[in-house]
Amino acid sequence: MTSVQQSNGAEGKSSSADSDRAPAAAFPVGFTWGAATAAYQIEGAAAEDGRGPSIWDTFCRTPGKVLNGENGDVAIDHYHRFREDVALMVDLGLTAYRFSISWPRVQPSGAGPVNQAGLDFYRRLVDALQEAGIEPWPTLYHWDLPQPLEDAGGWPERDVAYRFADYASQVHAALDVRRWTTINEPWCAAFLGYASGEHAPGRLEPAASLRAAHHLMLGHGLATEAMCARRPDDHYGAAVNLYAVSPADPANPADVDAARRIDGLQNRLFLDPLLRGSYPADVLADLEGLGFDSCIKDGDLAAINQPLDHVGINYYTRHTVSGVPGEATQAVSSPFSSHSPWVGSDFVRFVPAGRPVTGMGWEIDEMGLYEVLTRVHRDYAPVPLYITENGAGYDETLTDPSPADGPAANGSTVHDTGRISYLDLHLRACHKAISDGVPLRGYFTWSLLDNFEWAWGYSKRFGLVHVDYATQRRTPKDSARWYSNVIRHGGLGD
Ligand code: NOJ
Repeated sequence: MTSVQQSNGAEGKSSSADSDRAPAAAFPVGFTWGAATAAYQIEGAAAEDGRGPSIWDTFCRTPGKVLNGENGDVAIDHYHRFREDVALMVDLGLTAYRFSISWPRVQPSGAGPVNQAGLDFYRRLVDALQEAGIEPWPTLYHWDLPQPLEDAGGWPERDVAYRFADYASQVHAALDVRRWTTINEPWCAAFLGYASGEHAPGRLEPAASLRAAHHLMLGHGLATEAMCARRPDDHYGAAVNLYAVSPADPANPADVDAARRIDGLQNRLFLDPLLRGSYPADVLADLEGLGFDSCIKDGDLAAINQPLDHVGINYYTRHTVSGVPGEATQAVSSPFSSHSPWVGSDFVRFVPAGRPVTGMGWEIDEMGLYEVLTRVHRDYAPVPLYITENGAGYDETLTDPSPADGPAANGSTVHDTGRISYLDLHLRACHKAISDGVPLRGYFTWSLLDNFEWAWGYSKRFGLVHVDYATQRRTPKDSARWYSNVIRHGGLGD
């Protein structure tokens, strides 16, 4: 391992809080500074210690689904290298680490007693984090459904919500952890998994995707209820991917309505049941004819609307949309596709707004993050907020040190100035939101390490730390040193 402190490449922006002065954008004392990962993207060890197959194992083996036919069988071998990775977190100065627990590792068939060997991995990880003074933030579902549950119908089947609550409760009973996130990005799990088919299990069934969305929410509620009954003082929340959404032309009613529809399906379909105990009426009207109502049973919304200790927000970009009656929906700079459930008589087109993009083609719009934070605080219950993901993916290669790096350079690194700039802008937006009264308590960047980026395979890198996939060597990028300085100084400079 190369330590963060040794990584001494180009500094990126001069605003990286790399001085001993008090930062101009100082974050509150006790602010949580973290980084995030997910089990399937990093662990590998796909067939070890009794782990069963997940929908992602199956999906990756389906030709044409994942770039270059790649998979998470080995990933970045975190299962065997977690101690080295915790040491990297210590070097960075992280105060918290968000990771996910692999359901098929803990409960291979998706039902019944836990697989002790699988659970023990998470005990070791939690122990290592706590010994290092880093708070563990496990997420119980980050998309790796046990394959046997998909074989029985998957998230469109109501029973999976009960299976999830049972699994969550067993993990909760076993791990000495205080901060729990139930589900990650239910929009992706439901719509990319069951409507557009871009993610596992790769189904193209719009009506089923809506049932999946509801059952993911129900699973969140039932799991939270069960965990809270055992330890009411633990903290519970969910992580939703929220977007700022704008009409391409605010003066065009069709564009304004397109923005309402996309905001409804992307944001409010999840925020409203979580925080208000209802589905938005306009979204229900948009979805008429797809059978969504029929899967919502008496008591479901009350079960979903558990008191929460935090809402986790994953933010990457803004969607700019226009309404195009009579034209087919076209996906531009977003993973939406023509199979998504909002295809109906009113069509929506995602249009570029002309901002710079990351290596994912996602527009960089930090004020969208400010908008999302202030909107959630304004429109919903005043629950503490955390950014549970925010980051930038690029195609990157390790470069040898150059004379320009100066005498302190002592190893190869990645001069990821794009990522530093992205993080800097978004952290400033967070700071502004806090200054304006938003109870934002922490920030987790995506991601700690380069990893398996789902349908993109290993082609897109989001890590603060570069991983050589052939050797598994970890090398902190310039952004790692930058972020560690931000944490050390508690904020950003001028
Ligand atoms: C959201 C997901 O939670 C994470 O798994 C993914 O890698 C990042 N966004 C980047 O696409």
